[in-house]
Amino acid sequence: MKKDSLIFSMIATLMVATGCSGDDDEPIVITDPTEYSDEWYAGGVNGTIFNATARAYKQPIDAINADMALYRQFMRGEELASKSFVSADETGYSGLGPVYIRKSCIACHPSYGGHSKRVDVFDTSDSRNGYLLMIYDPASPTLALASKYFTGMTQTRAVPPFKAPIDESGITLKWMTHTDEYGNKYEDGTPYSAGTDHEGTLIYPIVEIAQEAILFSDFDMSKHAASIEATIGIYGVGLIDAISDEDLRAQWADEQARGYAMGVIGADIIETPESNPYFPGAHPGRFTYLLTRGTLDNGPGANALWNITNVTRPDRTYNYITTEYARVMSEDAGVQAALGQTGEEIYDLLTSTSLKSEMTMEDFEAFMVWHRGIAVPAARNLDDEVTQHGRDLFYETGCTACHRPSWTTRSDYPPLQALASQKIYPYTDLLRHDLDMKEPGRARVCRTTPLWGRGLLQVTSGHTDMLHDLRARNYEEAILWHGGEARTAKETFRKMPKSDREALIKFLGSI
Ligand code: HEC
Ligand code: HEC
Repeated sequence: MKKDSLIFSMIATLMVATGCSGDDDEPIVITDPTEYSDEWYAGGVNGTIFNATARAYKQPIDAINADMALYRQFMRGEELASKSFVSADETGYSGLGPVYIRKSCIACHPSYGGHSKRVDVFDTSDSRNGYLLMIYDPASPTLALASKYFTGMTQTRAVPPFKAPIDESGITLKWMTHTDEYGNKYEDGTPYSAGTDHEGTLIYPIVEIAQEAILFSDFDMSKHAASIEATIGIYGVGLIDAISDEDLRAQWADEQARGYAMGVIGADIIETPESNPYFPGAHPGRFTYLLTRGTLDNGPGANALWNITNVTRPDRTYNYITTEYARVMSEDAGVQAALGQTGEEIYDLLTSTSLKSEMTMEDFEAFMVWHRGIAVPAARNLDDEVTQHGRDLFYETGCTACHRPSWTTRSDYPPLQALASQKIYPYTDLLRHDLDMKEPGRARVCRTTPLWGRGLLQVTSGHTDMLHDLRARNYEEAILWHGGEARTAKETFRKMPKSDREALIKFLGSI
């Protein structure tokens, strides 16, 4: 093994060790990346940034840095994603409400990536709380959302005089303990997470909502359930978008043949052509835990800018709202008095499909440049002997059956040509699997989460909480919650000697 080849891995290690979090992003140089040459470039040569600081998830790809017009759009887009929208007019960030989920992307995606932090209290004014709340019918086979009353992503905030559909103080998050069939111990007798303050424990969340906290008098919470999902990560989504539909379908067919995947549940969702100028038509799902979105231009971020805040724009001239909410608000005497309007006028305004735009298309396009153009941080420490051993274990243990190491993006990607033909290392098959987790909420059959860049979570975000509801407090626990289709991989990990477990985790922390 080469000892002196890579300054980068040394610098990165040093930064992690000292908790360096400066904005002084020193360029990091790979001097002789001969070994694992592709793998250092997690986002491909064009989509990778050599930065292991607290700002590692926020950097534009080089092609954006190199083009003044694109760079300006990127910076404006970043502002739109990180500044809080307000209800006042003419501020550049106007249009919040009438009812909303958060005021900005950053409110749930701190540092733009990885995951938000696990919290004990559901308070959306807490900047660590990136949870999205969903209310559904647990008895329905598809765990259908209670969408007559609540928007799919449940709103808990409103601009007065409007009222929130749910009063947050009536939402309780309970973290329950779970003991697995091995008493939360490895084969060698060591408790899970040994040496931490949560040694030998596993936890999972239960969400309860008091009936009194609900605005709708005829909604019966006792017949429904609530679940939370945590953010995934914004960096690299342009590269995921640049993978071809054919390659996604081939992966699905391959796993079907192996009897592995539960299927592309989000397949063939219909894109609305006007909201996706580049790839009209039907696409297999590739984004979100449930694979509900097939392209970036009609994806979770492009929609969130509108439906998180209810800021309208030329291609979204209506509120993200339920008619039940509009009905209850329009009949509310306090709302009528405050607005000086009749119930009918209020209802018509709330449900109008031709509202005036609160955001320009120019701003939305800038936002998409930012969204698409965030680079993936390069891998670190790959030339380290222990990391290499961990890498072998990752491949031998069957992790790669779902955490597919690499993909090559399509040869033509009109929205941002620099992202075309890139060999990328996201470590995901972009398909859903059933890990048979205890109380998984709505994400029972969940997309394999990309592992790229996760090793920088501590540096960028100050924690290592993982999985769709952040029940895992470190890599160990994330792996130990793998059951169902991934049971064999988890069992093999549990039986490994300590040094092998540590090596595998060191590899995960390097990619
Ligand atoms: C209420 C918290 C919240 C806010 C605010 C929010 N998101 Fe998210 N975001 C989430 C959650 C939770 C997920 C994962 C949910 C899922 O898979 O259904 C997610 C998923 C995503 C993904 C999908 C990543 C992937 O790999 O599939 C992208 C991209 C994204 N958000 C971008 C944005 C952008 C851009 C904004 C602002 C316009 C934003 N989000 C605002 C909570 C939020
Ligand atoms: C059968 C498919 C499958 C296999 C095999 C598998 N995983 Fe996963 N992995 C997933 C899915 C699905 C998720 C998302 C689960 C969730 O969030 O509820 C995930 C999530 C993770 C996460 C958490 C990522 C994050 O940011 O939340 C880590 C770490 C991880 N896997 C590591 C591994 C390792 C290491 C192995 C091998 C020992 C492995 N996985 C094997 C499907 C798999």
